[in-house]
Amino acid sequence: MKLHTKMVLSFISVIVMPVVLLAVSWALMGRFLDMPDIAGMPPEYRQAFIQIGFLILLVLVVTALMLLTWLSGSIIKPLQTLQTAARAIKDGDLDFSLAVNGTDEISELCQDFEEMRIRLKDNQEEKIRFDRENKILISNISHDLKTPLTAVKGYCEGILDGVASSPEKMTKYVRTIYNKACDMENLIDELSLYSKIDTNRIPYHYSRIRVHDYFSDCASELETELDSRGIELTYSNYLEDDVEIIGDTEQLKRVVNNIISNSVKYMDKKHGIIGMRIRDDGDFIHVEIEDNGRGIASKDVPYIFDRFYRTDESRNSKMGGSGIGLSIVKKIIEDHGGRIWATSVLGTGTIMHFVLRKYEESAEV
Ligand SMILES: Nc1ncnc2c1ncn2[C@@H]1O[C@H](COP(=O)(O)OP(=O)(O)OP(=O)(O)O)[C@@H](O)[C@H]1O
Ligand SMILES: [Mg+2]
Repeated sequence: MKLHTKMVLSFISVIVMPVVLLAVSWALMGRFLDMPDIAGMPPEYRQAFIQIGFLILLVLVVTALMLLTWLSGSIIKPLQTLQTAARAIKDGDLDFSLAVNGTDEISELCQDFEEMRIRLKDNQEEKIRFDRENKILISNISHDLKTPLTAVKGYCEGILDGVASSPEKMTKYVRTIYNKACDMENLIDELSLYSKIDTNRIPYHYSRIRVHDYFSDCASELETELDSRGIELTYSNYLEDDVEIIGDTEQLKRVVNNIISNSVKYMDKKHGIIGMRIRDDGDFIHVEIEDNGRGIASKDVPYIFDRFYRTDESRNSKMGGSGIGLSIVKKIIEDHGGRIWATSVLGTGTIMHFVLRKYEESAEV
């Protein structure tokens, strides 16, 4: 039985019951107390009695109708709207929004329902975005693996066909094959790290790190390789020598290497310069890595730390890359309780900034 029918029946019984009770008690009183029944009353009493009876009946009917309208408006109507919304959601329409006003329990239920709808919609959009990103990732991986694989195949065919006739040529061919295999290995490592980072499975091994020693070591390790590519690396420290942070040395190295590898990859100047500066920023250390490469358009700067984001220039160039590097960097810095951002001028260069909290005896990461 519908709620509305139940309500109507309840109110009818609210009206009928007192009338029946009155009639029965009157009849009983007539029989057992020897009181005159309605037919035996003087006419003026009978008239007054009937009028009072009608008045009571009218009051009961009006009250019942008012209660019925009020309850129907505040219970049945919102429930019907809720039911329509639930059906819309069941049919996959997550845009059906419930206008909620009122503070009673049913309005609160509608409010909760509306919040549930918004959350479902967010999850659905997140899933669509995730699926789209995965498709892009798969297409990027296929492209990034296919390029070195094609080269490896070509050089192997060259060797098999005897094109690498001299030992020098053979060494050159084998070296190229080796380099391409290393590129593929790097890509696969990056992808596996990305999948771990995405599901919070990166094992961090935190320790106390003396900032100046650590970053100057990083710089000297990179110097030789950068030098061989014609890029000058400068290192400047503006911190006290004993300043420490808590961090994972391996993962922070990954951060620095990733940023520097971008500076190298997107370097378009003949004389490339990369400057690493460590500054004091109160409770934090502030690391700046500046390059004089091709820079990033201001419209792209806010997005470069997003997964799979590559600027149009990068996507259209022959340079490999999946747009994962900086998203990994951001995750590592944020897992260390720090913050990372970039400033850049197109055509002039880019500065990557990150801050990490200094270690103090009571501080924890
Ligand atoms: N130093 C830089 N100079 C110019 N552009 C940069 C620099 N660093 C990052 N970018 C831009 O930001 C984008 C995102 O960088 P990110 O490192 O995440 O991806 P990627 O280098 O394209 O690929 P991956 O690092 O996964 O191989 C790059 O595609 C590039 O367009
Ligand atoms: Mg990169």
